[in-house]
Amino acid sequence: MSILDAAGKKQLTQQERFEKTRTLVYGSSAKASTELASEVAALIRSRKEEGKNVVLGLATGSTPVPFYRALIRLHKEEGLSFENVITFNLDEYYGLVRDHPESYYRFMRDQLFDHVDVPEANINIPDGTVSLDTVYESCLDYEKKIEDAGGLDLQILGIGRTGHIGFNEPGSTEDSITRMITLDRVTRQDAAADFMGVANVPRSAITMGVGTILKAERIVLMAWGGNKAEIVRDAVEGEITDQISASFLQNHPNATFLVDQAASTRLTRVRYPWLVGSVDWDDSMTKRAVVWLSQKLEKPFLKLVDEDYNEAGAGELLASTSHEAYQVNIDVFNAVQHTISGWPGGKPGVDDENRPERAEPNPKNVLVLSPEPSDAFIGMGGTIDRLIDQGHNVNIVCQTSGNLRVSDAAAHNFASVVSEMAETGIGEGWDAQAKYAGEIQQALEDKGEFGVDPDLVRKLKGLILRGEARDAASICGYQRKKVGKVTFVDLPFYETGRYRRFHLRQEDVDSMQALLQSFSPDSVFATGDASDPSSPQAICFAAFRQAWQKIYDCEGSRDGECSVWLYRSRDQPLESHEIEMAVPMSPDQAAIKSDALRKFNSLSEQEYNAAQRNRDIAISYDHLGMAQYEAIEAFRRW
Ligand code: GLP
Repeated sequence: MSILDAAGKKQLTQQERFEKTRTLVYGSSAKASTELASEVAALIRSRKEEGKNVVLGLATGSTPVPFYRALIRLHKEEGLSFENVITFNLDEYYGLVRDHPESYYRFMRDQLFDHVDVPEANINIPDGTVSLDTVYESCLDYEKKIEDAGGLDLQILGIGRTGHIGFNEPGSTEDSITRMITLDRVTRQDAAADFMGVANVPRSAITMGVGTILKAERIVLMAWGGNKAEIVRDAVEGEITDQISASFLQNHPNATFLVDQAASTRLTRVRYPWLVGSVDWDDSMTKRAVVWLSQKLEKPFLKLVDEDYNEAGAGELLASTSHEAYQVNIDVFNAVQHTISGWPGGKPGVDDENRPERAEPNPKNVLVLSPEPSDAFIGMGGTIDRLIDQGHNVNIVCQTSGNLRVSDAAAHNFASVVSEMAETGIGEGWDAQAKYAGEIQQALEDKGEFGVDPDLVRKLKGLILRGEARDAASICGYQRKKVGKVTFVDLPFYETGRYRRFHLRQEDVDSMQALLQSFSPDSVFATGDASDPSSPQAICFAAFRQAWQKIYDCEGSRDGECSVWLYRSRDQPLESHEIEMAVPMSPDQAAIKSDALRKFNSLSEQEYNAAQRNRDIAISYDHLGMAQYEAIEAFRRW
């Protein structure tokens, strides 16, 4: 099916009947992006043959990066020329000079324009540097320029967590045009890592309006990763509302959402497939439907009756299994009950048939992979504490240094302490140290507020984070038990990259492979499987996955020899039906976890509150009719 030809919109299948904008689900963002790029290439070529231009509306953010890479490849390897392409970018931060490392101008140069042959004069990006009294005029100019170019043939979009397209934050009307806008709090938080702190994120931006975008001939909105799943569902299946500007695409005759699997998980056809067609009622589908029913009717499993199933649209489940509700309820109750275990490393000496983790070997070599040093503590601090307590050999591996998260102030403080120690004579003979501290201070000053940290500073910031991770580990049992190991591998992809632009390299995979081979784990805890593909979490997971496949595809399966558990840190938490191991936490353990998280100075408010998410999981288990716990950390099998 072609992406750019949305004739299919009017012919939705039964399965897609909840979707009001055509939505194509791809196995991976890479596949979707290459396909879109080759269709765009065909459009550019056919226009060229007709002696015409193509006018493209372009977007920034991590989402279109794989699409741009695919276009660059087509240019370099297949001779695709962009000479007949005119581009208009959606938006720009207000007040950033063009060469600011986070300006969209810089972004577009780095990610596309510097690598293809679009004529300089054909590139248009809203100017974020115009004076306040000329903003209005310059926005009108931008509109006129688009019109003069013949209008947009194709507009590429990403989507923000507030549902914005461009920077059309909630409240933007359907007929809005290019203008200055105040950024939403959520949007600024999402940009905090790019700007090294939310305080540095500009407060306003210039953006094409919803009306400007809707005038495009074709529109393709891309969304990757689990954190976009909810907003994709709202935009595609929900009511049209100015609170979600992407919902206005429902009114466009040729708009398509391209999503990867993780971003599709909230669509009705994926989440509740029995509502749109016939399904195979295996154990996992049954569990999913009964959890849904219980949540929808706010009744615990064991109180659901036949009529509840029928009235909610899950009658087929009872019919096809020829069971009564009573039996199905009990089966699902038991299945969920069996996910609960206070022995995440297996309970030695007891029958483990109905336990999530096998009893032997005991103790286990447990590898906890933490993409950024804080991830493991956010996602499974309480479980780490239990594993240590239960005598396992736990190795927390911080896959990246995470240095981009550390503030300048932290590096500055460290340098000040060192130079004061040298001055006060406490550190006698500290000439070299004083010189080092001076160099750090100088480098911070030279780079200015938004400049890129030189290696020396990145290194120091990484070391600061190492200290925080060790402190957090000692709170999670390491100190009490005097065991456990924290390993720092500083994967190379992170050391030379920036947020939203990271990509995996062979050295990263090699490094993970060496680690797996030397530690030889009995169980692994990992995260990032459903993250935005350009995030450090997703790339770390890909490095692990490729290393794992390389080792075990050669040496044969390790089924039964090593279990791999997935946890969630910064991403959308696992839903009740997805959980395969639920590790309960006492109030004391929840407090330990919060203490551990406080060791990290660079976490956002939301990340500090991870224990609250664990309380929410416990509440949802409670509502299903399971035991009441203070908090639960959740895992899924890989
Ligand atoms: C910013 C941009 C949007 C983009 C959004 C999502 O707000 N103005 O155009 O769609 O971020 O970014 P990402 O693709 O990195 O998730």
